[in-house]
Amino acid sequence: MLNFNDVSVEFETTQSKIVAVDHVTLDIQKQNFVCFVGPSGCGKTTLLNAAAGLVMPSTGTIRYDGQLRKGFNKDIGYVTQTETLFPWRTAAENVGLALELQNLPRSEINERVDRYMSLVGLRNFQDHYPRQLSGGMRRRAALARTWIYEPETVLMDEPFGALDEQLKLSMQKQLLDLWERNRSTIVFVTHDLAEAVTLADQVVVFTSRPARIKAVKTIDLPRPRDPYRIHFSKEVQSICAELWELLEDELRETVQ
Ligand SMILES: Nc1ncnc2c1ncn2[C@@H]1O[C@H](COP(=O)(O)OP(=O)(O)OP(=O)(O)O)[C@@H](O)[C@H]1O
Ligand SMILES: [Mg+2]
Repeated sequence: MLNFNDVSVEFETTQSKIVAVDHVTLDIQKQNFVCFVGPSGCGKTTLLNAAAGLVMPSTGTIRYDGQLRKGFNKDIGYVTQTETLFPWRTAAENVGLALELQNLPRSEINERVDRYMSLVGLRNFQDHYPRQLSGGMRRRAALARTWIYEPETVLMDEPFGALDEQLKLSMQKQLLDLWERNRSTIVFVTHDLAEAVTLADQVVVFTSRPARIKAVKTIDLPRPRDPYRIHFSKEVQSICAELWELLEDELRETVQ
């Protein structure tokens, strides 16, 4: 579905040149759930930006569904790391925006907004403006805003990073339930190894900057998975330990 072929990304600033992504080749299969883990600043967001068509690779190609795409790819929903809601719109108006742009009937928009806001636990906050919501609530509204139009591929950059443990598990469960139903292709960046193992078919481990693929670990845990039940299980913990071993040296390089 999403194919990175020998992709490198370089940024030039006035003082220096930074290589963020270095010769990444990776095939993400249709309807798979793939998690990216790697040290802070290694190039994960850059890779998502490139997949979405927001950043041009310096070398290599990215194909979507077999095709080279130019510019922003509308088939891909992207929950960015620094997602912001429009401050002048209520939470519901933010969540329903994509459906409004599709000119769907108001009754359908209202029904779907209600459904997706319930899914992220914001049913009673539809009329609140972003400034009247907590940070975690704004994050959840941003998720609903992307999920609501059911894109065939979704990129999510640390979507649950700011949420407390309890809420995180609940959001993981909602996401997996949704994905079991619509089977979109998902690329999900996280620093939480247990989260990656709980969610993913494959976990891609990146090196410290520039991002190269250090390993791709297939997670064979049976589905459907219940995050509440498996998060602290021996199976998940033992895969986390394996991933940690791969990451440890890289993290040491990031924070010296
Ligand atoms: N537009 C840009 N111009 C210059 N440098 C950039 C730009 N975007 C990213 N970088 C640099 O590229 C490198 C990778 O950044 P990126 O945001 O991809 O990291 P990341 O893996 O997502 O980190 P984190 O886990 O902290 O979010 C960093 O050194 C960053 O400073
Ligand atoms: Mg990032």
